[in-house]
Amino acid sequence: MYDVAAVRKDFPIFETGIAYLDSANTSQRPRQVTSAVLDYWERYNSNIHRAAYKIAEEATDRYEATREKVRAFINAASTKEIINTRGTTEAINLVAYAWGRANVRAGDLIVLTILDHHSNIVPWQILAEANGARIEYVDIDERGELRQDQFRELLEQQPRLVAFSQVSNALGTINPVDDMVKRAKAAGATVLVDGAQGAPHQGVDVRALGCDFYAFSGHKMLGPTGAGILYGRRELLEQMDPFMGGGDMIKTVRVEGTTYHDLPWKFEAGTQAIGEVIGLGAAVDYIGELGMENIREHETEITEYAYEALSDIEGLTVYGPPPSRRAGVISFALDGIHPHDLATIADRDQVCLRAGHHCAMPLMTRLGVPATARASFYVYTQKDEVDRLVGSIKEAQRIFK
Ligand SMILES: Cc1ncc(COP(=O)(O)O)c(C=O)c1O
Repeated sequence: MYDVAAVRKDFPIFETGIAYLDSANTSQRPRQVTSAVLDYWERYNSNIHRAAYKIAEEATDRYEATREKVRAFINAASTKEIINTRGTTEAINLVAYAWGRANVRAGDLIVLTILDHHSNIVPWQILAEANGARIEYVDIDERGELRQDQFRELLEQQPRLVAFSQVSNALGTINPVDDMVKRAKAAGATVLVDGAQGAPHQGVDVRALGCDFYAFSGHKMLGPTGAGILYGRRELLEQMDPFMGGGDMIKTVRVEGTTYHDLPWKFEAGTQAIGEVIGLGAAVDYIGELGMENIREHETEITEYAYEALSDIEGLTVYGPPPSRRAGVISFALDGIHPHDLATIADRDQVCLRAGHHCAMPLMTRLGVPATARASFYVYTQKDEVDRLVGSIKEAQRIFK
């Protein structure tokens, strides 16, 4: 039995009395993560890969230990395929610059989806502008699911790159990534999967999935901000030039030129977010102890409960697929009440709710709304937090009547 009350004891923030329904934005962190970061800062703070003294060795070892933990977490073949970045955004930009500038040519097609987060749209728009490529977006159907018929038609045009999310942060739609990656690879495309909402809630096996790149953020999976991951297939990473130049990513530097470090350090220029990366390792351990299967089950239970509770409210529209086809994210709108007003009223009840475009403006345009309210759940979410949200919604309806 998954014991959510016991899990919550690891998260000191809940002692403040908040109902936290914004985990798709950023998750909370358990003591195991914050104390791992604090331990680094207080006991062995030093730079990595450079110094010969003991505490620097410990910092290097623990930093590199996270790489192995992440490798196992996503089942990559080698730690050489695990690049530390600041998060999903930086990981995707790394690919757009280091792979895209060299490989995407004038007239090439890039296939994205209307469901995607800005960080999986804007870097490709910048690349398309620079290299003269064109972009097509896969649309959604009335349930908020990607139109697979259209996706297949676009693949017939042999795109150079296909990029999509595993799970939509705005609607919670779980995309059929296994099938989509297979089809895109068969069409000859390079494939990037944005796992920002996938890795924390669904998990991933990158080898089974067969994608070329997979990006995710530590702060959405109980880890610190500033630590995220780019997985890249080794063969591709070997061929790519560095993204940024500077310290640590080199073998030798002479006035005539530079030779680059081996993978994965070729892509890790400058001093990294050492404590945060160590904290990410602690987050991966914590998720491992909870078990991804248990996390999924718990989220499904909460999502079904919330979906029903919200659907019962008159004047409330839920966007996106039924609970069986979505992750722990529910976007909704209330007749006559702006999402920001609802979020403000909820805040008075210590209910943390997101309102806005969720960095998915093309999707909001497609849905014909300026914004939605969004409740999102994670390992620590309890039903009474959903009940408190329902209370805030009813209060908002009373005020605006
Ligand atoms: C699906 C998706 N992709 C990308 C991102 C960007 O992540 P980050 O801001 O951590 O780089 C987010 C964050 O909300 C997201 O939900």
